[in-house]
Amino acid sequence: MAKRAAQYVCQSCGSTFARWSGRCDGCGAWNTLVEETSAGDQPASLAPKRSGRAVALETLIGPTEDAPRLATGIAEFDRVTGGGLVEGSVVLVGGDPGIGKSTLLIQAAARVAQMGAKSVYISGEEATAQVRLRAQRLGLADAAVALGAETNIEDILATLKPDGPPRLLIIDSIQTMWTSAVDAAPGTVTQVRSSAQALVRFAKRTGSAVILVGHVTKDGQIAGPRVVEHLVDAVLYFEGDGGHAFRILRTVKNRFGPTDEIGVFEMTGGGLKEVSNPSALFLGDRNPETTGTAVFAGMEGSRPVLVEIQALVAPSPLATPRRAVVGWDSARLSMLLAVLDAHCGVRFSGHDVYLNVAGGFRLSEPAADLAAAAALVSSLTQVPLPVDRVYFGEISLSGAVRPAGFATLRLKEADKLGFKSATISATGALDGEAPGLRIERLETLSAFVAEIAAQSVARADRPKDNETAW
Ligand code: TYD
Ligand code: MG
Repeated sequence: MAKRAAQYVCQSCGSTFARWSGRCDGCGAWNTLVEETSAGDQPASLAPKRSGRAVALETLIGPTEDAPRLATGIAEFDRVTGGGLVEGSVVLVGGDPGIGKSTLLIQAAARVAQMGAKSVYISGEEATAQVRLRAQRLGLADAAVALGAETNIEDILATLKPDGPPRLLIIDSIQTMWTSAVDAAPGTVTQVRSSAQALVRFAKRTGSAVILVGHVTKDGQIAGPRVVEHLVDAVLYFEGDGGHAFRILRTVKNRFGPTDEIGVFEMTGGGLKEVSNPSALFLGDRNPETTGTAVFAGMEGSRPVLVEIQALVAPSPLATPRRAVVGWDSARLSMLLAVLDAHCGVRFSGHDVYLNVAGGFRLSEPAADLAAAAALVSSLTQVPLPVDRVYFGEISLSGAVRPAGFATLRLKEADKLGFKSATISATGALDGEAPGLRIERLETLSAFVAEIAAQSVARADRPKDNETAW
């Protein structure tokens, strides 16, 4: 028998190479190549020999029908999937460890079971007792979810065979699964890909809706199985940060629905609760009297994110005032301060300037310029900006506000999160239908500064409520 060729597979991006090297040429990651035998490839001599069979080709015009869907009854989840899980489809749910993927999916499995459909939850990470304990704590113990703790794909499929395929199958997580069809260690790209392929075939054959859980690395990639992303019908990310209770479920890819929908949840002692009015949660800790903060409607890859930019401008006793930036480029801040000085007459020379991007985010987009400038001017003049407004636009060295891409996507996200208005560039058409935000168009940064200056004068004239008359 022909010897199977060894190959080196990058555990980060799935690229394969004939020889080992320290750095993957595909994604640039270091030390990620692992030797694996080729993924279930049959030597050419063993492949069954048969002549091709002609298939009937069809036209685009023809009978169509809406794919039957399985709604979970969790409205935020169903919205993100485009109205429920499509039967026979496979969805990958990614997210950081501990973010609440298992909690969300046991809740979904229980809802489906309570509606009378057969729902199976296979955990490869936790023992059934642990899953049961969590379900009890969530008050879902009476739901007829079939629970299993197993990691071998063949065993799982054999278990499901006798009493027919379930309507919903949850695999938590795909990284723990292995199939005896390939001889690679569990957790490697080859195993993850082969296991996912087997589950995709199972879903297509039986019409079960399958949800795969995947872990995400620090830089936001679904670890290893980025290769799985193109096998599945939809990819959802579950995200949030440890300091806050809110979690966002976001579509990255969806063959059966929109990709710009988000679902918002709140993690409570009783599991994940849907948040139908996310702005209340998101804007909860924003004070209309706070100066120096502006919300930037940004993009992370193809995903919109709203981030608060905070600035503090304070008179400095130092000969060379301090400039400190967290989460943004300090050269960019210097440029912005120079533009404000040269074109808008706003001087920061006697002031320390601190700029912070909330939530530990790191912004790399030039479109954040306008929001940063707004926060800086607001802090210097002590004029608060409207709390329900977002800002985006790049500022050129001439002081002009330039358009940013994906304007409609940013505005839609702001609308979804409860914002009412947006300040953007004067030029740049909206690509598609604009949501119902009030839009203010700015040609130059100096126009914005003039507006703030007028408000500053008006505030100075107004007697303050808490001022005592002497
Ligand atoms: P989990 O669903 O296990 O996360 P993942 O599967 O994404 O790794 O969620 C674990 C976290 O959620 C854990 O830190 C505790 C918290 N949690 C609650 O706050 N309330 C709850 O009701 C549950 C079940 C979990
Ligand atoms: Mg889990």
